Order: sequence, then C-alpha cells, then structure tokens
Amino acid sequence: MTQDAAIGIHDLSFATTEFVLNHTTLAEHDGTDIGKYHRGIGQQSMSVPAADEDIVTMAVAAAAPITARHGTDQIRTVLFATETSIDQSKAAGIYVHSLLGLPSSARVVELKQACYGGTAALQLAIGLVRRDPTQRVLVIASDVSKYELDSPGEPTQGAAAVAMLVAADPALLRIEDPSGLYTADVMDFWRPNYRSTALVDGHESITAYLQALEGSWKDYTEQGGRPLGDFAAFCYHQPFTKMAYKAHCHLLNVCGQDTDPDEIARVLELTTAYNTVLGNSYTASMYIALASLLDHADDLTDRAVGFVSYGSGSVAEIFGGTVVPGYRKHLRTAGHREAIDRRRPLDIARYRELHERSFPTDGGVHPVPRQTGGPARLLALDHHKRLYESR
Ligand code: COA
Repeated sequence: MTQDAAIGIHDLSFATTEFVLNHTTLAEHDGTDIGKYHRGIGQQSMSVPAADEDIVTMAVAAAAPITARHGTDQIRTVLFATETSIDQSKAAGIYVHSLLGLPSSARVVELKQACYGGTAALQLAIGLVRRDPTQRVLVIASDVSKYELDSPGEPTQGAAAVAMLVAADPALLRIEDPSGLYTADVMDFWRPNYRSTALVDGHESITAYLQALEGSWKDYTEQGGRPLGDFAAFCYHQPFTKMAYKAHCHLLNVCGQDTDPDEIARVLELTTAYNTVLGNSYTASMYIALASLLDHADDLTDRAVGFVSYGSGSVAEIFGGTVVPGYRKHLRTAGHREAIDRRRPLDIARYRELHERSFPTDGGVHPVPRQTGGPARLLALDHHKRLYESR
C-alpha cells in the first residue's frame, strides 16, 4: 500500500431532501408485508425531493458547510458525479460553483458511469492533488434514484448528495494505492436519455454486482492490495442496504472464509445506518456509508477501511483507506443527523404526485412552488433555462 504522499478525504458532508416516505406507508399502499422492506431489502424509509429540489440544490446543501469551514481559495477543480443529470451539455456543477461563490479560476466538469461516478471523481481528484499538493478538489456526488411507480425498484428509491474535499495531508481518511478494477458490458440498469425513470433488471443487477466484486477483488489482490483481515470495516455501494450483506458474504466465500453472520454484521452494520433511512443515492451511496461508519464507530484511528464501488453497466473498483488520527473532531455527525431528522413525512398521495411531476417542454416560464427549507432552490424553468436562488 502506498501512503508516502498522503492524499485523501479532508472533509465530508452530506445532505438530502425536504421529504421522506416511510416504507410502512408504501407497504400499506401496495399490500406488501413490511418484513420484505425492513428485513428483505433492509430499508426503513426513502428521501423524496421537493418540487424545488434536485441534484444541484442537494449538492449546494452538502458542499456549503465545507466551503464555510475551509474557504474556497485552494479549490481549483469541482468534479460533479451524477447519473441523474439535468442537462445533456452543461455540467450541474457550474450552478453549484455559482451558488457557492467559488472562484472563477476553478474548472468544473460532470462525470458519469452509473453509481461508480463518485469513485471516478475521487480517484481523478487524487491524481490532480498529487500533481500539485497545494490544490484542493471539491468532489460532489449527487443523485435522485427514481423508478416507475408500482415497479419492483420503487422501494429502493432515495436521494442525497455527498461533498468531499480532497486534499494533501487529509484530516479524515488517507486513500491508498492500489485499486482493484473490473469492467464488463452488462445491461442490469440503465436510463435512456428520453426517460426520467431508470430501467433495472434487479436480480440481474445483484448477480452483476457480485461478479464485479469478485473480478475487482481478484485484481486488487494481484495489484498487491491488503489481505481481507486487515480491514476493520467495508463500505459497499448500497442500492439497498441488504446488498452490502450479500456482497460481503460473497467476498468471504471467494476468499474461502467463514460467513459468520456476527462477523459480517461487525464489519458492516455501522455503514448502513444512514442509507437504510435515505434510500439509494446512487453515486453518493458508498460515501454516505463512510459517513455513517465514521459518525457511529467508537474509534477507528489508524484502522483500514475497504471500499467496494459498483456502477451498473458496469464498472467496479475496490480500494483501501486509513483513518487519520484526530479525525473525530472534524466529523459532521450533528449536521448529518439534522439532515435526516428534519425531513417531513409524505402521505402516499403527495408522494405519488411529486413522483409524477415534470416540466412542460414548451419553452415557457414555469415557476416552481417554494417547498424546500434547504440553502438553495430551483426557482423556475424559464425558456428552457433552470433558474436557482440561494437563501
Ligand atoms: N419478510 C422478510 N423478507 C422477505 C419477505 C418478508 N415478508 N418477503 C420477501 N423477502 C425477502 C426475499 O426473500 C428477498 O431476500 P433475498 O434476496 O435475500 O432472497 C428480498 O426480500 C427481496 O425479495 P424479492 O422477491 O427478490 O424482491 P423483488 O423481486 O421485489 O426485488 C430488488 C428486489 C432489490 C431486486 C428490487 O427492488 C430492485 O430491482 N431494486 C433496484 C436495485 C438497483 O437499483 N440496482 C441497480 C444498482 S446496483
């Protein structure tokens, strides 16, 4: 493991939506035994965006505490990962750059490869900081996971954004070389440009995830990565939190180890606390698992954490990180709890109405009702232009 030039996550903050749909409400509506949602897929509730929220407003809410703490002077790059892009050309990060008042001397670009995009952004950020350790990169992963009403994917929706400041001599986590990589052309999940909801073959996606995990672990080992036993915990991509348990069980099998449920729970359970109530946040999901681990673990100083990033289609990457001494005084646990607890519950009718909302495509002026209590909101679609305002 290469740690000589320590580069990694200096600050980490997430934000989510104004509204929440409890799975008990969904189960009552669709006649599903709640055990399927709570135990079968491991989900309690899911975040639902207000009419005036989207990947930009969530990103601003996630990143604002970071720029408030560290300033903006050293940020020369913003990498915005998403698979629920709002424009085919303009990067969503440019709106965020403007709303946060970032320097004009910062480049901004958007990255896409399903749920893997956040990890691609993190790795590119590390390369940029390695080239010039005085620079910092703001990495944002922001997504709204949306499937058709009454489809199997519906209970695995959600929405959230993570912002990470990537820097030399990081305060939270040093990211290590090597990475284990795996790419395969599969159609387990995709969203054609003309659709607002994703298409998913859920069971195929579970199989593809496990194959990609196996392939990337093989490469990680061949590249000289850590042995399994080194890791105090594993942060998996969590399209639903039960997937982390399936994945870790598979990894133990691949490594010829016992699949002791207590041991699996020990390395995973602190990583799922936030995602079980937020739902799937695609690119942000694995980094919210990290926030959950850091916020809930007693002390992880100098311990190694494993990361398993998977993006349908598919690309996977496994890498390790080491938790930095003193990390606990830099955490944002109270802010994270507040973001979750402040959400307002929806009844089924209101949820379905928000789900089906879309803008007319006539190029007219379409104001958006004020609903969010977050720091930025979508004001209107005006002659095909999205207009935002900050509080
Ligand atoms: N009590 C407890 N568990 C129950 C249950 C009950 N009453 N009823 C069902 N279950 C369990 C099932 O046994 C199953 O567990 P298992 O996978 O360990 O066998 C689990 O709940 C799900 O049941 P299943 O019948 O497979 O549900 P489904 O056909 O509705 O599909 C998903 C579930 C997760 C595949 C579906 O929601 C989906 O496609 N989600 C999208 C996933 C995604 O986004 N993938 C792409 C990114 S990786």
